[in-house]
Amino acid sequence: MMNAIVYTSNTGFTAQYAGLLGGKLNLPVYSLDAAKGELDAGTEILYLGWLMAGQVKGYKLAAKLYKIAAVCGVGMGAGGSQIKEVRKGNAIPENIPLFTLQGGFVLNKLHGIYKFMMTTMKRTVGKKLAAKQDKTADEQDMLDLLLHGGSRVSEENLRPVLEWCGK
Ligand SMILES: Cc1cc2nc3c(=O)[nH]c(=O)nc-3n(C[C@H](O)[C@H](O)[C@H](O)COP(=O)(O)O)c2cc1C
Repeated sequence: MMNAIVYTSNTGFTAQYAGLLGGKLNLPVYSLDAAKGELDAGTEILYLGWLMAGQVKGYKLAAKLYKIAAVCGVGMGAGGSQIKEVRKGNAIPENIPLFTLQGGFVLNKLHGIYKFMMTTMKRTVGKKLAAKQDKTADEQDMLDLLLHGGSRVSEENLRPVLEWCGK
């Protein structure tokens, strides 16, 4: 039985999804930092982490401490994208359901190395995407997000996760 939602968030979008899920599933929600003091080792959790260069932040530690029922990676791409890469890059076992969710992007919420990385990404990926002919709707959306910033967090985006939970 899943007992809690645990997350790692840098600029708050993953935390928002965690809160929405907690409300829908009637489960307590903890940041990974807070969970360490609150949850017993081996507790079954649903884990959400923001995506950084394909890495689900905090997943490794969460998997060491808890029993992972399912994983959500929150990124800039469309929901359901990057599943294969994320599973492989984070060594998430095949028997653990993995979802990707579209979070948001606000450059001015970032600091230090993260801000630097995204400033570079905005320039390089932004240029590449802008120049691409026949962009898909998902590509256009990601370009808009990258160029103008914003949030794509919505309850609607959680439907596949809630469905998996039987809700
Ligand atoms: C340094 C850096 C690397 C990122 N790499 C990825 C990535 O590989 N894939 C992706 O979809 N989003 C990537 N993102 C976008 C974030 O995952 C996205 O903004 C997410 O919503 C942040 O969640 P948070 O607000 O909980 O921190 C990256 C962001 C930063 C700052």
